[in-house]
Amino acid sequence: MKTSLSLTLFAIFGSLCLNYILPVDAISTIRPGDRLNSTSQLVSGGGNFTLGFFTIKETNFSYLGIWYTADDQSRKVWVANPDAPVNMNDPVAISLTIDNEGILKIVSGDNTVMNVSDEVGTGNTTAVLQDSGNFVLMDAGADNRILWQSFDHPTNRLLPGMKLGVNFTTGQSWTLTSWLSDEVPASGAFRLSLERIQDSGQLVIRLRGKDYWTSGPWNDQTFQFLQTLTASYNMFHNNLTFTSTIDSIYFTFQSIGSSLSMLELTPDGEILDDATSLFVSPYEKFCYGYESDNGCVTSALPSCRGNKDKFELKSAYFVDGDSNYDNNSSLSLSDCMKRCWNDCNCDAFASNSNGTGCITWTGGKQYQIDESGQTVQKYVLVKAKKSKGRAWIWVIVALSVVLVLVLLGLLRHLNRRKHKQEEEKRLRDEYIHQLTETDSFKDVNEMENTGREGHNLKIFSFSSIMAATNDFSSENKLGKGGFGPVYKRKLLDGREIAVKRLSRTSGQGLVEFKNELILISKLQHTNLVRVLGCCIHEEEKMLIYEYMPNKSLDFFLFDKEKKELLDWRKRFNIIEGVAQGLLYLHKYSRMRVIHRDLKASNVLLDENMNPKIADFGMARIFKQNETEAITNRVVGTYGYMSPEYAMEGTFSIKSDVFSFGVLILEIISGRRNSSFYNLDDRPLNLVGYAWELWKEGVALELKDPALGDGYNITLLLRSIHVGLLCVQESATDRPTMSEVISMLNNETLPLPAPKQPAFFTGRQALELTSSETTSTGKSGNNQYGSVNNLTISDMGAR
Ligand SMILES: *[C@@H]1O[C@H](CO)[C@@H](O)[C@H](O)[C@H]1NC(C)=O
Ligand SMILES: *[C@@H]1O[C@H](CO)[C@@H](O)[C@H](O)[C@H]1NC(C)=O
Ligand SMILES: *[C@@H]1O[C@H](CO)[C@@H](O)[C@H](O)[C@H]1NC(C)=O
Ligand SMILES: *[C@@H]1O[C@H](CO)[C@@H](O)[C@H](O)[C@H]1NC(C)=O
Ligand SMILES: *[C@@H]1O[C@H](CO)[C@@H](O)[C@H](O)[C@H]1NC(C)=O
Ligand SMILES: *[C@@H]1O[C@H](CO)[C@@H](O)[C@H](O)[C@H]1NC(C)=O
Ligand SMILES: *[C@@H]1O[C@H](CO)[C@@H](O)[C@H](O)[C@H]1NC(C)=O
Ligand SMILES: *[C@@H]1O[C@H](CO)[C@@H](O)[C@H](O)[C@H]1NC(C)=O
Ligand SMILES: *[C@@H]1O[C@H](CO)[C@@H](O)[C@H](O)[C@H]1NC(C)=O
Ligand SMILES: *[C@@H]1O[C@H](CO)[C@@H](O)[C@H](O)[C@H]1NC(C)=O
Repeated sequence: MKTSLSLTLFAIFGSLCLNYILPVDAISTIRPGDRLNSTSQLVSGGGNFTLGFFTIKETNFSYLGIWYTADDQSRKVWVANPDAPVNMNDPVAISLTIDNEGILKIVSGDNTVMNVSDEVGTGNTTAVLQDSGNFVLMDAGADNRILWQSFDHPTNRLLPGMKLGVNFTTGQSWTLTSWLSDEVPASGAFRLSLERIQDSGQLVIRLRGKDYWTSGPWNDQTFQFLQTLTASYNMFHNNLTFTSTIDSIYFTFQSIGSSLSMLELTPDGEILDDATSLFVSPYEKFCYGYESDNGCVTSALPSCRGNKDKFELKSAYFVDGDSNYDNNSSLSLSDCMKRCWNDCNCDAFASNSNGTGCITWTGGKQYQIDESGQTVQKYVLVKAKKSKGRAWIWVIVALSVVLVLVLLGLLRHLNRRKHKQEEEKRLRDEYIHQLTETDSFKDVNEMENTGREGHNLKIFSFSSIMAATNDFSSENKLGKGGFGPVYKRKLLDGREIAVKRLSRTSGQGLVEFKNELILISKLQHTNLVRVLGCCIHEEEKMLIYEYMPNKSLDFFLFDKEKKELLDWRKRFNIIEGVAQGLLYLHKYSRMRVIHRDLKASNVLLDENMNPKIADFGMARIFKQNETEAITNRVVGTYGYMSPEYAMEGTFSIKSDVFSFGVLILEIISGRRNSSFYNLDDRPLNLVGYAWELWKEGVALELKDPALGDGYNITLLLRSIHVGLLCVQESATDRPTMSEVISMLNNETLPLPAPKQPAFFTGRQALELTSSETTSTGKSGNNQYGSVNNLTISDMGAR
């Protein structure tokens, strides 16, 4: 049994590994006469980058692009023809070639579609995709002179080593141009350039030619308003270099700790550090023109708009008013925002599903939030609550500071243990000082005053948390997450909350902790557990959540009696809710959060059995040191882990999709993925079991007997089908969450047949992994590196 198991593992892991080995004979060079057709690709010498044609969804528009070979989202770092897509109706004929004058061009049959390079060479030219990501056309007939290189023609992303700036001698400028939307590579509304300012330089973003944001001058290490980019608390940080000579100025960066580093000028005009998924530009989504302390360029406000008015993304519908649609597909979301901002009648705007075009809502007096989250998300104008001017804000600030100081003074009196208390004061002072430096401070005040708008961070005092009992006791323990135990507490006003005590080893300083928390507290969706605030006491950090009376999904689902409470309607509602929550995290939240540990015990249930995802954003807080918490987390919950995560440590939104697929199968079957089933003497987990049943055409047998007869058979089979699509071995085969939602909601949508899923033999693999990790002791939370050094021989040795 043991031997056959090892053999099975060997076979499974072996076949998985093969997928990650690069083709040895990958070509990296095009010579005169070669043709790179639409189905073949160029791979750089060391395998770091791939060049090839790609087609965007739902169109026949095709582009020539370069991407990191290891990036499972294949984000394009460069595109040859953003504004001149090739029509792929006749894909066979499209190819990239070098003509006899040495010009690199895209041809269709014998017709030139587009010249990629422009300088004529000797005719003996070669184009090489280098390991830096630079695609270089060299003239072998003239000492390998560089005729053209992709680094001189950046699109929306800057790779390490690429220049952003100007060569004054040649007049050449290296700038980034945003895509029109996340899906459409066509030139969008924004352009990022580096320009001279006094005897230094600064980055400038322009919206359709108008100044939008400036980074402030370079100050030896970074730009004034771009400090997050270099923040050294980050495990992946960047070394920036600014060079200024008589004939040129330029900016380059080097990434430390990440293998997929790149900076993106997003379609919405933000700067995104793809290695950390952090928006490093300091404004929140848009620059409105009334703020300049973050580099936004000020402009006159339309008479009807006030300071601090802003647009917020909401799933809302208007009760009255009209909507207008402009089908101009060269409009980006930001064009639409400008249009709405300047139109006093306009209350909200949105784009088409591909991010182009402009829909505005005008004359509406009332809107309602759609709790189900299914109404099209739109940016709704939110008027600033206070129009009493700055002085009033300062009064509040001063009052609160005085209040806090008074409280601290009192604390001091009461507490005899002097040195401990002084340390606490120092930390709190430091913390409060940090807070006053950001916008969030006013949020805290608003929160304290109105008690509403819970998405702003609230700081709970340690004493209010500890009020009810003396210590965190085991009766009050709700559970233990990957990052520390969770306790139920009652505040003095009777409200119940859940308190998560973070393991002390998170390795984060207060500032970073606060930054992460502010970000996380902004994630708001009906299917996410609300973060109410935090509490910091000496070395201890606690997160305060809303309290969920019905515990977690596993508490019901895997219990013989309690599972009876989950009828089919509730179960499907849970599947849908989790899907909506994940979609929000992946797509609509500002941060594109990947959960990384989705499982039944992280799905909490409210009093109506509506699901709420917990522990999202945790991975952001625990992002650096190689601590126990992280080791546990990365090794994580084996049954829910996608193969690429388990084997390579790479994760993406598709790893969450995998976990979601496992969750669907668990919800339908009422059984844990890790429970074993014997079919033909093969040890299988739930995923394998479901696959066997599916192949034999008896998928319905997966159904939890506790469901009885009260279920919708089509929907149930459809859910199993979607579950199997989500657990497919290859990440690219798995659907995205928005596809999952339309598959679940649209019963007529034809589904592709699932391919064989990744089989994991749960418990055995878990043992192997954890012993491996502890013995080498260097797992760490490296986003793209290897997490556990599993090798085939290790497997055999067992
Ligand atoms: C794409 O090309 C195929 C094959 O020529 C054609 O059937 C299809 O209608 C085209 N789709 C679009 C959106 O143009
Ligand atoms: C593309 O080129 C490859 C290798 O040269 C060849 O095997 C393949 O058949 C070609 N595909 C098409 C559609 O021409
Ligand atoms: C493309 O290059 C060819 C030379 O190979 C030249 O004759 C032609 O004018 C160029 N086309 C464009 C649009 O620049
Ligand atoms: C290629 O990727 C490897 C592994 O990530 C890295 O060590 C190497 O520096 C990369 N090469 C270049 C030229 O960026
Ligand atoms: C092109 O240049 C390479 C390298 O200099 C040389 O080996 C080759 O013979 C040249 N080919 C032609 C056709 O001139
Ligand atoms: C700018 O152009 C000149 C002239 O071609 C060249 O000598 C110089 O190296 C260029 N500078 C940079 C930074 O590329
Ligand atoms: C940062 O870059 C500069 C210039 O490229 C280099 O001299 C320095 O060693 C780099 N620092 C680190 C920490 O890599
Ligand atoms: C866009 O709208 C204009 C008029 O509003 C119409 O003439 C045009 O055909 C539309 N274009 C598309 C692609 O729907
Ligand atoms: C579409 O929008 C673009 C970008 O704002 C603009 O330049 C163009 O004139 C518009 N086209 C039409 C037909 O309005
Ligand atoms: C985006 O969607 C709109 C409407 O659905 C369509 O007219 C337009 O062609 C699409 N643009 C691209 C580049 O796919």
